[in-house]
Amino acid sequence: MLNVALPKGRLGEKVYDIFEAAGFECPSIRETNRKLVFENEQKQVRYFWVKPSDVAIYVERGAADIGVAGKDILLEYEPDVYELLDLNLGKCRMAVAAPADFRDDENRTLRVATKFVNIAADYYAKIGRQIDIIKLNGSIELAPILGLSDVIVDIVETGTTLKENNLSVVQTILPISARLISNKASFQFKGTQIEILLCQVRNQVEQHD
Ligand code: PRP
Repeated sequence: MLNVALPKGRLGEKVYDIFEAAGFECPSIRETNRKLVFENEQKQVRYFWVKPSDVAIYVERGAADIGVAGKDILLEYEPDVYELLDLNLGKCRMAVAAPADFRDDENRTLRVATKFVNIAADYYAKIGRQIDIIKLNGSIELAPILGLSDVIVDIVETGTTLKENNLSVVQTILPISARLISNKASFQFKGTQIEILLCQVRNQVEQHD
């Protein structure tokens, strides 16, 4: 069996559509219930729904052979996995955002609120700007509104969250998209099966582009 960790939610559903079209269908997964594990013995594939930010942990530790994780998670946590393919889904960007009237005072340490402390630290180290990182776990947009930080480093997809909170992008740091990843040992021991899947999934992704 090839164990596949899918990110729970809309992105995961799109990813499953691709896997299905690639010949790795598992029809029971479309039944709406709270079940987390689905398998198709004939196709030798088992899917499980995982919190998106946990996919890389399952794959790194071998609980899943392959999975789909955002480039943001891969850059932030640097899991020891192989990145096999850009699925061109879940496209968004990592950006610095601030209130419209924000002016950076280079003489002061910049207060940056984010979930992505490593990405933010790397970015500001590269541009040589001293910062104070404030690690938050969600609703990052609140931080500059309440004066907890000067700016935020966060994911921007449609831009709606920023707009509705009177914030705007100051600088784009990186483009983000979903990536197919593999456990390193599985890539050796289940190499043939993974290679076949990779090839079929790549065909599907190219057809959609
Ligand atoms: C993410 C991100 C932004 C929002 C961006 O939050 O942190 O808040 O999506 O999307 P948009 O540009 O389309 O508005 P998420 O929904 O993951 O929740 P969070 O507040 O827990 O980070």
